[in-house]
Amino acid sequence: MKKVFRMLIVLFVIVGCSTDDDGGPKVGGPTDPVDGGDSGDGGNVDPYTYTATSDLKDIVDFPIGNIVSASKLTSGSTSNQAFREVLNREYNSITAENDMKMANIFTAPGTYDFSDGDAIVDYAKANGFRVHGHTLVWHASIPTWLENFDGTDEEFETLIEDYVKATVSHFAQETMTYNGEEVSVVAGWDVVNEVWDGSSLRNSLFRQRMGDDYAAKLFTWAREADPDVKLFYNDYNIAGETSKRNLILGMVNNFISNDVPIDGIGMQMHLNHNWPVDDLPTAIEEVAATGLLVHISELDVKVNYSDDITEFTVERAQAQEEQYQRAAYHYVTKVPEDQQYGLTIWGFRDNDSWLYDNGNDWPLLYNNDFETKIAHRGLVEGLQGNAP
Ligand code: XIL
Repeated sequence: MKKVFRMLIVLFVIVGCSTDDDGGPKVGGPTDPVDGGDSGDGGNVDPYTYTATSDLKDIVDFPIGNIVSASKLTSGSTSNQAFREVLNREYNSITAENDMKMANIFTAPGTYDFSDGDAIVDYAKANGFRVHGHTLVWHASIPTWLENFDGTDEEFETLIEDYVKATVSHFAQETMTYNGEEVSVVAGWDVVNEVWDGSSLRNSLFRQRMGDDYAAKLFTWAREADPDVKLFYNDYNIAGETSKRNLILGMVNNFISNDVPIDGIGMQMHLNHNWPVDDLPTAIEEVAATGLLVHISELDVKVNYSDDITEFTVERAQAQEEQYQRAAYHYVTKVPEDQQYGLTIWGFRDNDSWLYDNGNDWPLLYNNDFETKIAHRGLVEGLQGNAP
């Protein structure tokens, strides 16, 4: 019976969503895979589905987020309507996957295109979402003209200062009532992303042009532009790489002692099904010990890191379920409530993920038909405070 039902859904999907006008980024693979999982094409669709018992945002008091693009929020395609249905049901916080990054906003010296971010803020306002701003400065999102800028270091620094201040002030303007309080729709910003590379300061254009203390300058400018917005440092492998974590915590504690304005730390949490395990609670505890807000900012769980499987196996699905549970459980139980800024997942369907790898990985909570995988159950359990 279930199989017949699934086949009907598949037929419906084939007929109903043959076009997808989503202009968002694609990470390999078909835009709208419609395989039902039974035809043996290597498993575009996760066969391990379950019916969710709870919607994520209803379980906890802190915000639960996921990523969006302006085009997905405004397009009328069938799959984007399905996307918005899941988004509105399960989440109350959104992060722009790419639309609010520097390369998308900073179009020319002194010229900013905020239109995609504005569309996201409009949607948030209309539908009761908080927006988390991501990310003012990141070495992987620099507009080409700025990469090629041949002015002096001083001129470069002024361009960046003006951009940071213009962007933060722009997004400080829209307010809404959230949890009974009048707040800016954009509640926080990742001021700078991935300053550290393993055990050293990444040699980014910003470091070369503005000096080793460029991150502190960015935080100071962001605070000058908005006294209230929460300012975050965001990075990956904060859980998993102890030496990198120590450097980050050293920098953050240094900011705190020198009155560099910082409010929180974003732990990206791009995990593997079997990594990290023991270091995860330690990392969350150590980050929380700074006393700052803690954001799990980009959670996803790869299951095929070593490229050793060709389809999504039951064993990997279960390991993934447990890893989602582990991340949520340690967040809920180890971060004091007043430091819980939220937990954000980096995507919906496996085939939309930046880690999709042409169909060779299955990192997210929903299969290609927006049905919940058992990973979702793991997340629910963890959010409910049940140990993995
Ligand atoms: C990724 C997006 O998901 C992709 O669409 C884009 O091509 C590259 O950026 N860490 C981050 C995110 O902070 O901004 C990245 O997002 C994933 C890694």
